[in-house]
Amino acid sequence: MKQVYLDTFGCQMNVADTDRMELLLFHSGYIRTGEMRDADLILINTCSIREKAEQKIYSLAGSLKPLKVANPGLILGFTGCLAQQEGERLLEKIPFVDLVLGPDGIEHIAQVVDEVKEKNGPVIRTQFDKEKNYSIPELSGETPLHPGPSAFVNIIKGCDKFCTFCVVPATRGREKSRKAEEIEQEVRLLVSRGAREIILLGQNVNAYGKRGMRQVVPFHELLYRVAAIPGVERLRFTTSHPKDFTRECIAAYKNIDNLVNHLHLPVQSGNNRILEEMRRTHTVEEYISLIDELKSAVPDVALSTDIIVGYPSESHSEFEDTLALMERVQFSSSYMFSYSPRPGTPAQDFLDSVPQSVKSKRLQRTIELQNRMSRELGQKFVRQEVDVLVEGGSSRPGIDFRGRNPQYWSVNFTGDRKQICPGDTVKVVVEEVSGHALRGRAISVNRNGKRLTLGEAPTATG
Ligand code: SAH
Ligand code: SF4
Ligand code: F3S
Repeated sequence: MKQVYLDTFGCQMNVADTDRMELLLFHSGYIRTGEMRDADLILINTCSIREKAEQKIYSLAGSLKPLKVANPGLILGFTGCLAQQEGERLLEKIPFVDLVLGPDGIEHIAQVVDEVKEKNGPVIRTQFDKEKNYSIPELSGETPLHPGPSAFVNIIKGCDKFCTFCVVPATRGREKSRKAEEIEQEVRLLVSRGAREIILLGQNVNAYGKRGMRQVVPFHELLYRVAAIPGVERLRFTTSHPKDFTRECIAAYKNIDNLVNHLHLPVQSGNNRILEEMRRTHTVEEYISLIDELKSAVPDVALSTDIIVGYPSESHSEFEDTLALMERVQFSSSYMFSYSPRPGTPAQDFLDSVPQSVKSKRLQRTIELQNRMSRELGQKFVRQEVDVLVEGGSSRPGIDFRGRNPQYWSVNFTGDRKQICPGDTVKVVVEEVSGHALRGRAISVNRNGKRLTLGEAPTATG
């Protein structure tokens, strides 16, 4: 068999696309290798969300040139969002590239590789297939899937929101939802192969069901359907947009036991003028009222978000509004970014009056605030018992296992390695907060609906 080396940058959607390419290429005679030097085909699945992501890829490209010189038969390809964004231009920047394939063409990877061989020259494929429905047929019964305890399932691709700073609508195209039956089938398969937690995935999951389907299924209905599949112990989803977060979604949190008490809801800014400039289509007040309603329906719900600081023309007091919103909502964690101008986005043409040094300072203050809030919120779990889905063992000193509680806190804990295994749900007594993680000691394990008390478990402190 020939060998393919795959490298992934960017978000979980790219990880899923890489897995899909691995599977498709396997069927056309390629086996995955972890060694670039052994590869007949190298594919770099790229991201272009911020300038840094793009730079990483160009610096990696530089290091690939000697491999190509040493082995002229090597096929070198760039797939994913930067490939889509740059198309032909990528060949000007990296002349030794053989293949440029956008995210919408991932399913054709094997044919495109064959075309490169036949043509003996570069192939560029970046057009969107507007007619085709979103389906991943190769994830049916026959696949060699080996999921971990927590598994991602794609439900929607693309984005129709067109926030002014964001490349995703251009790189991933229009929203298209996958048929609910196909999603259910994949979930059943994953559960039968050991998955315990299902994370529904898309750039904007709660726009699910609106486009690209013959029969409309609203997002909240999909939640009920997936949650009801036997063996789904925990259900999560990411990412949602506040505009599409409906009252029915709040009710779903209340009604569905295995829908965990955590919501990642990106807000980006705490100022109405900036939100409008960003074209986020909601106000700060609307966001807060959504969160308040959710908190009153599900009191122990944990919230996380994405924040951009230093958007063009953001004043000091507008930035302070973002800090105030973070305090008001009490996010348990945030992904925080300094605004980065992206090619082809409307914001790129705006006059950016915020110097880089100011952006960096604002980012630093946001991170400090989040660190303090995480520490304080984490303290509430100390001396409490939390349910942890065990994701794996740990080789770090004083820790035997790692996993997550329903509120998506990482939990590192000690416990008997003979009695606990990945996929178990374990009761852990939290002893301390360490950075953004909780630390504790296992006291019992839940297996097949039965609670087993654990024997003397070694503790972190001895
Ligand atoms: N679909 C999701 C997230 C998409 S990208 C949503 O709507 O929220 C993930 C995050 O990257 C965004 O939430 C945003 O915070 C950040 N991001 C996107 N474009 C950016 C840019 N040009 N500069 C800085 N951060 C950006
Ligand atoms: Fe980008 Fe906005 Fe779409 Fe999220 S909702 S992917 S930030 S355009
Ligand atoms: Fe990056 Fe594309 Fe994901 S730009 S974050 S890989 S959708």
